[in-house]
Amino acid sequence: MGKEPALVVDGVLVDDGREGQSFWRRYFNFYDTLNEAIPYRDMIAWNVTASGAGPGDHVLDAGTGTGNIAMEVLARGARVTGTDYVASALEMCRRKAPSGTFLFADLTKSLPFADNTFDQVICCCVLHLLDDASRALSMAEFRRVVKPGGRVVVTVFGTGFSSLRVYRETLRRHGERHGFLDTVGLGGRYLLSTLRIFYYVAQIRRRERLGVHKFLTGDELRTLMVNAGLEVRGVERVFAGQCWGAVGEKPAVRG
Ligand SMILES: C[S@@+](CC[C@H](N)C(=O)[O-])C[C@H]1O[C@@H](n2cnc3c(N)ncnc32)[C@H](O)[C@@H]1O
Repeated sequence: MGKEPALVVDGVLVDDGREGQSFWRRYFNFYDTLNEAIPYRDMIAWNVTASGAGPGDHVLDAGTGTGNIAMEVLARGARVTGTDYVASALEMCRRKAPSGTFLFADLTKSLPFADNTFDQVICCCVLHLLDDASRALSMAEFRRVVKPGGRVVVTVFGTGFSSLRVYRETLRRHGERHGFLDTVGLGGRYLLSTLRIFYYVAQIRRRERLGVHKFLTGDELRTLMVNAGLEVRGVERVFAGQCWGAVGEKPAVRG
């Protein structure tokens, strides 16, 4: 994962070529295969439900990737602004969800939004990819840009994250819902994409072992929220038990 040249479009920096972005560009060619997996769809739905987003709300989807959270937000009648630091992801999102707004933002820096801009903030499967300081900064930024009384929902890879457990749970849940033969068909149709996703997640795990980033415990995620000044409403296991999802609320202004 080397450094690539920066990409500037119409004078605007859309991809700063930092280490890691080329990894995501390649992964995004296969990423949406996850939409066939019930545990992934459940996690997307859980994030949006936990945020309480609904008609009239404006939601920030930080680290939107291929825009699956953003699409779910729009399906529930809310407005969405999605951010990512990979230009190709933003292009993909604009094609998939033309009514959303998609902007470049690097989560290792302050967010390009004024205080109290959003009704809810969702950040799914991103903060475990950052170093400790950037993770704390991101959480503080989420608190800053959400309105008082608004929710911040953050999901991260849990310690010991296992793709195999997610895969087994995917087949089990699919079998329950659609039967054995359909599940064999699913496994066959998506075999190559699934192997590629295993490969990319193995790279993320390898970088975790090397200490580049860190998977979290539920308590660590809770502490991160508390330290950012959010009131924690709940922390639970999601994504076949391999991720932690936490719901925080920015204290309402009194008086
Ligand atoms: C596993 S994907 C999650 C995508 C989406 N939120 C979902 O749940 O499907 C991780 C995302 O984090 C983004 N990301 C990683 N580091 C980032 C950074 N420093 N700033 C902004 N986005 C970042 C990647 O580009 C990628 O889109």
